[in-house]
Amino acid sequence: MAELIEALSGRRARRAFDAREVPAEAQELLWRAVSVAPSHGNVQSVRLLVAESEPVRAGLVAALSEGNRNWAPAAPLLVALASMPTHEHAESYGEERALWSFHAGIAAGNLMAQATALGLVAHPMAGFNEEAVRRAFGAPGELRVLVVFAIGFPGAVESLPEDLQRREVREQRRLPLERLVATDSWGEQNAQPARDPSRSRREGGKLER
Ligand SMILES: Cc1cc2nc3c(=O)[nH]c(=O)nc-3n(C[C@H](O)[C@H](O)[C@H](O)COP(=O)(O)O)c2cc1C
Repeated sequence: MAELIEALSGRRARRAFDAREVPAEAQELLWRAVSVAPSHGNVQSVRLLVAESEPVRAGLVAALSEGNRNWAPAAPLLVALASMPTHEHAESYGEERALWSFHAGIAAGNLMAQATALGLVAHPMAGFNEEAVRRAFGAPGELRVLVVFAIGFPGAVESLPEDLQRREVREQRRLPLERLVATDSWGEQNAQPARDPSRSRREGGKLER
């Protein structure tokens, strides 16, 4: 039981990739990890968009934010994780629950855990143009793309631009548990954000650090 937390903490959003391809069997395990994720009413609204051919990959790379284009193209495998809101039984709990998005989150967690267990990096990115991702795959307008994953084996830190090298070796920073967990009553310590939200607005809405 204790080993799972070790494996989960071993996952990092690394940006340096090795050129080695992700073997087909490993890819299948990643897709299976997504396929076993639970969903409300078993609607299974999540879909994976895998960029295999060169033109589709180029379209997906072009859809990424400039910051992500600095490193993500080195990943041998780029995959978008999406969900179909129209597949949800939203009337059960109201649309504000956005369960289609929640399902994508669970699926992403499964994918990252499986990737870590395989010695792979699966770095999620929200920095992309959603319509451009849909266009690259010929996907319908109702498909909501939540993240694009850069997947591959970890590479040499030196392969990254200097500013990214520093971030690559940075310690994992997390809230102490007493700020994360509200036991019995919500406290002042629970209300404090992990990062100053106005800072990311000042940085032009970049929330990727
Ligand atoms: C939904 C989501 C979107 C993210 N988007 C980006 C992104 O666009 N670019 C990027 O470099 N990192 C992105 N990240 C990675 C986070 O910056 C990273 O997970 C966070 O700093 C914590 O670091 P760690 O995952 O190594 O613990 C994203 C992470 C998540 C979960």
